[in-house]
Amino acid sequence: MKLFQGFLPMLILYGLVLTTVLVNAQDDQSGFISIDCGIVEGSTYTDNVTNINYVSDADFIDSGEIHNILAIYNSFDVDTQLTTLRSFPQNTRNCYTLKPTQGKGNRYLIRARFMYGNYDFKEQLPEFDVYLGPDYWDTVKFNSSSKPINMEIVHVLSSDYIHVCFINTGRGTPFVSAIELRLLASNMYKETAFGSLYLFARVNFGSAFGTIRYEADKYDRLWGPISWANSTYLYTFDKVSTALFTTIDPPSEVMSDAITPKYPQESFNINWTPDHTTDKFFMYMHFAEIEILKRNQKREFNIFLNGNLSYGPFFPLNHSTTTIYSTEPEFIAPKYTLTINKTKNSTLPPIINALELYTLKQLPQNQTNDQDVAALLSIKSAYKINTKNWQGDPCTPQEFVWEGIGCSNNDTESPRIVSLNLSTSGLNGGIDPGIANLTMIHTLDLSNNNLTGTVTNFLSSLKFLTVLNLKGNNFVGPIPAELQAKASKGTLSLSFDGESTGDPASSCDGNTCKDSKDNKIIVPVIASVASLIVILIALSAIWIIKKQKEHGMRKTGIGPDIRKQQYTYSEVQSMTNNFSLVLGKGGFGTVYHGFIGDTQVAVKMLSGSSLQGDKEFQAEAYLLLGIHHKNLISLIGYCNDESHKGIIYEYMANGNLDSHIFDASSSFLNWEERLQIVCDAAHGLEYLHHGCKPPIVHRDIKGTNILLNETFQAKLADFGLSKAFPTEGGTHISTAVAGTPGYLDPEYYTSTRLTEKSDVYSFGVVLLVIITGQPAITKYDNDNIHISRLVNLKLAEGDINSIVDPRLLGDFDVNSAWKAVELAMACVAHTPSRRPTMKEVVMELNDCLVTERARQETKPKKLTGLMSLNLENAYDPTPI
Ligand SMILES: *[C@@H]1O[C@H](CO)[C@@H](O)[C@H](O)[C@H]1NC(C)=O
Ligand SMILES: *[C@@H]1O[C@H](CO)[C@@H](O)[C@H](O)[C@H]1NC(C)=O
Repeated sequence: MKLFQGFLPMLILYGLVLTTVLVNAQDDQSGFISIDCGIVEGSTYTDNVTNINYVSDADFIDSGEIHNILAIYNSFDVDTQLTTLRSFPQNTRNCYTLKPTQGKGNRYLIRARFMYGNYDFKEQLPEFDVYLGPDYWDTVKFNSSSKPINMEIVHVLSSDYIHVCFINTGRGTPFVSAIELRLLASNMYKETAFGSLYLFARVNFGSAFGTIRYEADKYDRLWGPISWANSTYLYTFDKVSTALFTTIDPPSEVMSDAITPKYPQESFNINWTPDHTTDKFFMYMHFAEIEILKRNQKREFNIFLNGNLSYGPFFPLNHSTTTIYSTEPEFIAPKYTLTINKTKNSTLPPIINALELYTLKQLPQNQTNDQDVAALLSIKSAYKINTKNWQGDPCTPQEFVWEGIGCSNNDTESPRIVSLNLSTSGLNGGIDPGIANLTMIHTLDLSNNNLTGTVTNFLSSLKFLTVLNLKGNNFVGPIPAELQAKASKGTLSLSFDGESTGDPASSCDGNTCKDSKDNKIIVPVIASVASLIVILIALSAIWIIKKQKEHGMRKTGIGPDIRKQQYTYSEVQSMTNNFSLVLGKGGFGTVYHGFIGDTQVAVKMLSGSSLQGDKEFQAEAYLLLGIHHKNLISLIGYCNDESHKGIIYEYMANGNLDSHIFDASSSFLNWEERLQIVCDAAHGLEYLHHGCKPPIVHRDIKGTNILLNETFQAKLADFGLSKAFPTEGGTHISTAVAGTPGYLDPEYYTSTRLTEKSDVYSFGVVLLVIITGQPAITKYDNDNIHISRLVNLKLAEGDINSIVDPRLLGDFDVNSAWKAVELAMACVAHTPSRRPTMKEVVMELNDCLVTERARQETKPKKLTGLMSLNLENAYDPTPI
């Protein structure tokens, strides 16, 4: 006897896999730069609360003074990084320059932390501006000496360098306590496509403990606890697994607690007021069910923002995170109220586990070309230039252009360095090779310094150089011939006095040699670790895939010892609570919701009146018993009492495919999700055709028979009309033509010759439906028209946009859409032999999916909008 493979939710197993990887990744700080400002130069330490490795800030800045906060503010719960700081009594602007290993194009969380702690004994809270490179980031304004301020932004680097600058605006001395840089995954917070995301709030609801960050959160986001009046705290000791469809990954520690209103009829109101009237918000709401719901308990809610339904109805998944987020900025309002209301059918009040709010920040100015910046930093380091204002970006903003530097002015491109004047700057040593990398330079003035050694030949490789002044130095030897040639041709104005007083050997004094080593100060130590990380990531990926494979194999093999069971009618009555919740109705029976233990199930009861139905029921039960595939519905048990026959199979939380295409109330599927679903369904059908002996023709392929589980994995259902038939001859003369109008193979209808190709036809119709968003049969010029005719008519226009579902708003890969249309049309070919096999269909659909995913990698994700509302019985929680 075969043992039944229980359908332990895929999600949970998956979650465990991810969790393990997370643990592996935890000591990995390769994407971090963690700077404790104001500690002794060169010192490092590992924070004993977070295990984060901090370094001194001295290598990232060359101005300022270091201080400690006063002892009375240094209580046990103050983060170590906040106890020291660097203040900037001199200069209007002071900047840190960071060069993360992964530069331009990478997404970072950048955080600056400030705690005043009366470090200067003035008892006066300063106020100052912070800039990210050339762009204004925010103004620091304190409420108290003891309360730290965290500024955080999610930002995609447009340059290899990050400059964090503090500007004195005449209202006190700027300072900073810590600067932290965290590399984010490339698919997180993709809404940065609209601009940078400035953190407004990140809240861990229901938390009884302090802030959660690294190592629980591998990206070291700070999840602050918040107390709310009149709410009930919920928590679980079990792991909450990561969401499959989003990548925000709030840690389990954050998701495992939540709040819910005290009384079942109440809803939540979460209010906030923007800092600026023009702020545009992005919301990320994180939900997970962390109570074990009893049979007949249901938690379902709608989310409203200022009275507009944003999202819903929605129910959180058991111990698994779902993130509902804005895919574009929310409307501008002077005040916001986020309301979460239970639906009428929900027996439980809403729940929320965590919330993030970001405002959109545009950081529009181009920073100086990276190669030029690298060259200048090399020069700065070689000559120990720290008396000039050489901080931050060399060319931007305009009022802080580095002394002695000329920049090209072009609004659309990164500025380039076109001149460098280091005349009379007390330079020692030789000509720094970094100068050779200023490839756009036309004027170079090094006059009146103590430069020694020979005039190096690389200067002649500067193509645009027209003015070169080397007068007043101690060079030895001749001027390189090429330079002299340029000068005599008149393309270079060369000033040189040929005095050679210095001893060439002494040009490499202790300082210069040390300096060239110092060039590397900005490149963090982690460079060597980077490749290791790549390998680690690759290994984890392989491991996940392997795990999934193993899991998939277990699904089709012999599973855990939950045995297939026969249930009595009275057991079925009690598991369905006397058939109280109807999930759907088919031609031969009604499907009810039920529970076996804590596991949700669907119970299909055969309607007693239908004789034909009785046969179909037997066929379905028989078939289901022997078939196991991840894309086919699993049978859990059955009931075979005299006059009551029922099949118990896995509950598919997200209903059927058609409801997501045609019902406005169901969640909308984007192109990738549609492709994924038909790909799954195709796999299931391929298995019936090519994996079963004899092959099985499903005979009723249609959207309502493609069911979706909680992770939107698709499975074929309703084998009631399927019949196994012998392979010989490959056809079968059936006595009655069954199927659904619009999906039924016209060839089968006329010949009643049944082959797998009839399923291929029906599958083609499903494809056309998901591509166009139109039903199989529609009205067209007052006539009923089949979808394949309709698409054929539009194909003549040659415009894919007139075919594809307009609700996708053009957000799809055109090639994958064309391919899908062609495939669908081949499937509905009139002559069965012209139709592809399901094997071929699977391959083609996989290609479509790969193409679309490749596009998604480079595009922000566009799913549905966010949030929703209902104000009856609303209560206002007050943050304490
Ligand atoms: C609520 O439940 C009733 C019956 O139990 C059902 O008819 C109705 O469609 C449900 N409403 C919603 C919004 O789910
Ligand atoms: C460089 O600056 C000095 C003054 O600091 C000035 O006299 C000189 O003309 C400048 N050189 C060029 C090439 O502009």
